[in-house]
Amino acid sequence: MKPIPLLTPYKMGEFQLSHRVVLAPLSRLRSYGGVPQPHAAVYYSQRATPGGFLISEATLVSGLPQGRQESSSFRDVPGIWAQEHVEAWRPVVDAVHAKGAVFFCQLWHVGDRVVVRPQQVSPQMSFDGRREELSSPRRVTAEEAPLVVDWFRRAARNAVDAGFDGVEILGANGYFVDDGHVGSAGLESRCRFAMEVVDAVAREVGGHRMGVCMDQFTTTGTGTGEEHALALHVVSRLNDHGVLYCHMIEPRIEGRRHVSRQLLPFREAFEGTFIANGGYGREEGDAAVGEGYADLVAYGRLFLANPDLPRRFELAAPLNDCNRATFYGAGHTDTAVGYTDYPFLDRVM
Ligand SMILES: Cc1cc2nc3c(=O)[nH]c(=O)nc-3n(C[C@H](O)[C@H](O)[C@H](O)COP(=O)(O)O)c2cc1C
Repeated sequence: MKPIPLLTPYKMGEFQLSHRVVLAPLSRLRSYGGVPQPHAAVYYSQRATPGGFLISEATLVSGLPQGRQESSSFRDVPGIWAQEHVEAWRPVVDAVHAKGAVFFCQLWHVGDRVVVRPQQVSPQMSFDGRREELSSPRRVTAEEAPLVVDWFRRAARNAVDAGFDGVEILGANGYFVDDGHVGSAGLESRCRFAMEVVDAVAREVGGHRMGVCMDQFTTTGTGTGEEHALALHVVSRLNDHGVLYCHMIEPRIEGRRHVSRQLLPFREAFEGTFIANGGYGREEGDAAVGEGYADLVAYGRLFLANPDLPRRFELAAPLNDCNRATFYGAGHTDTAVGYTDYPFLDRVM
């Protein structure tokens, strides 16, 4: 039988993976008060396989400003800045390791200090493609930058202390990269803040234990222009820090499930492992790996709804549909619903 490219082994740095089907980072807003709960151990271990690779939901590197903490959209995002978070993540990571999978923590900063594209205040895409307004973003000032950089560094250390195999810096979806410093111009200075974060994290835990999640800094996905050039510049600069992997989101094609396949220049610019994400199904993923377009493919909604996704791919089995209404935990009283209750194959066949 012909091998299924997605299910072939791959060596990512020191990590021997048994297949290429990665759990994409998925915010589920079920970490009450910012603290990961025991149900997260169930959820992640359900999706863990021997030699599989899982990326955690976006996890905050610092506390949020008051107003945002209370707003339902951010309240139950997990943190990794305090010892309490380290302790709470530990059993979650242990449960994933018990299944033999590799687990990275996605580090996120969305405070009022780091800004999200000052020129394009609204609207922005949220994780699942909804449009959301961001409250008065502003640029990080030169004085503030070292503080935020240090939050990332400390969070990376905490993640490793909690047992994570490494960390991923979230630089996609408009967060983090771009115009780090007031009055900056030119590609190098536009990504100065981002590179300071990458450098600090690499020094703290090692480039071999870090990935960076990026998009082309544009929601339109034209694949040209200034944002594209900036993204390409950042990706090539990651090589200087020995970053283990570059995880890139395909530009979204509005209203359609479709892989836009616009990442080739980035794949070519990056020397490490390349992960493609966004709209992939089994066939598209197989083609991407088979043709060398990507080393690994991250699956969001399909993995959310199919805890045994690699097995289903192996058997070309039918897939569960995801339920958007239960993506985010806020407002749901039974936390298992839409989280840990998606059926495994054995229970549906
Ligand atoms: C419910 C939900 C939560 C998400 N949370 C995150 C997140 O925390 N960090 C991130 O980088 N992307 C996040 N994403 C984006 C996914 O990782 C992925 O890029 C997106 O779902 C497209 O891939 P897919 O077509 O395989 O679902 C989220 C997506 C969804 C649907």
